[in-house]
Amino acid sequence: VIWEPADLAPWLARVEEIARAAGDLAPLFPAGRDVPRPSPGGKRVRARLLLRTADALDALGEEAAVLATAIEAVHDASLFHDDVVDGALLRRGAPTVHATHGNRAAILAGDVCFARAMDLVCRTDRVPVYRAVTRAVVDLASGQFAEGAARGDASLAIDDCVSIADRKTGSLFALALELPGLLADRPAADVERLRRAGLLLGRAFQAADDLLDLTGDPGVTGKDALGDLAEGKPTFPVLLLLREGPAEAAQAVRAALGDPHADLARVSAAIRSADLTARVGSRLRAWVDEAGSLVTAVTGTERAAPLLALGRDLAFRDR
Ligand code: FPP
Ligand code: MG
Repeated sequence: VIWEPADLAPWLARVEEIARAAGDLAPLFPAGRDVPRPSPGGKRVRARLLLRTADALDALGEEAAVLATAIEAVHDASLFHDDVVDGALLRRGAPTVHATHGNRAAILAGDVCFARAMDLVCRTDRVPVYRAVTRAVVDLASGQFAEGAARGDASLAIDDCVSIADRKTGSLFALALELPGLLADRPAADVERLRRAGLLLGRAFQAADDLLDLTGDPGVTGKDALGDLAEGKPTFPVLLLLREGPAEAAQAVRAALGDPHADLARVSAAIRSADLTARVGSRLRAWVDEAGSLVTAVTGTERAAPLLALGRDLAFRDR
């Protein structure tokens, strides 16, 4: 019998249904109108990865949908809080809760979202699942903290930068692949392979995001060009350019790191001269390939393919 990947659309619809039933944030916003989400245009990337992995392991069902909803709720919680940390007024082109309702509402909205996520996790009645989620949240917070401490630091080691991305972004991607392994009662070594593969996909996703800050078209990405650079984030592509790029480009980018008044046209031209897309692209490919080998070792080639196609789409995207 030939294995066929499931259509995820009905499962993603189920995720929206579970999220709605878990309640909106109306009690926090008594005016009741337009109860905000942190990210109206969200791609549900983590839910998709979880459901795809579950499908590859024959674990696609209500429990997987509940956990996919939970992982998105943890992500939403982290975004409410991130917008406070970053003082962000816009997310995906829409005003943030932090902007419209202030710090207090944004922090509490994040707390409520996080509590809902843990309530969903408890529905599975599986302690290892609960532990995996709490571990990921601790990593998430530690990555976010380390990122703040590294602001403006052009001498950050590349390994430390990767470790920040692994914690900040890789943690929830790792969880998205690990949880289906736990649901499917796979041996610990396989669960760890899946976790590691998710981490690598998250690392690639973050580096792709960071690359788009430098080379993306704001009309397509919906984000300000060079916004992360102006905020002083020493991201993976920035550090690669500082270490390996042409001296002139490196100097322009070093000067622009953390400078909100930098000459954007000049910096963009310097970045274009450094062929950063190819430089970063070869690293992305290596991470996605390593993730591919790990998943394949668990599921076999055929079942790994749809998940890896999704991973590649996330690593090589233009928005
Ligand atoms: C977005 O980063 C932020 C994160 C990936 C993590 C934020 C985590 C916390 C604030 C810890 C609190 C966690 C919980 C669960 C309550 P970014 O600023 O690089 O991306 P952006 O462009 O989307 O803002
Ligand atoms: Mg942010």
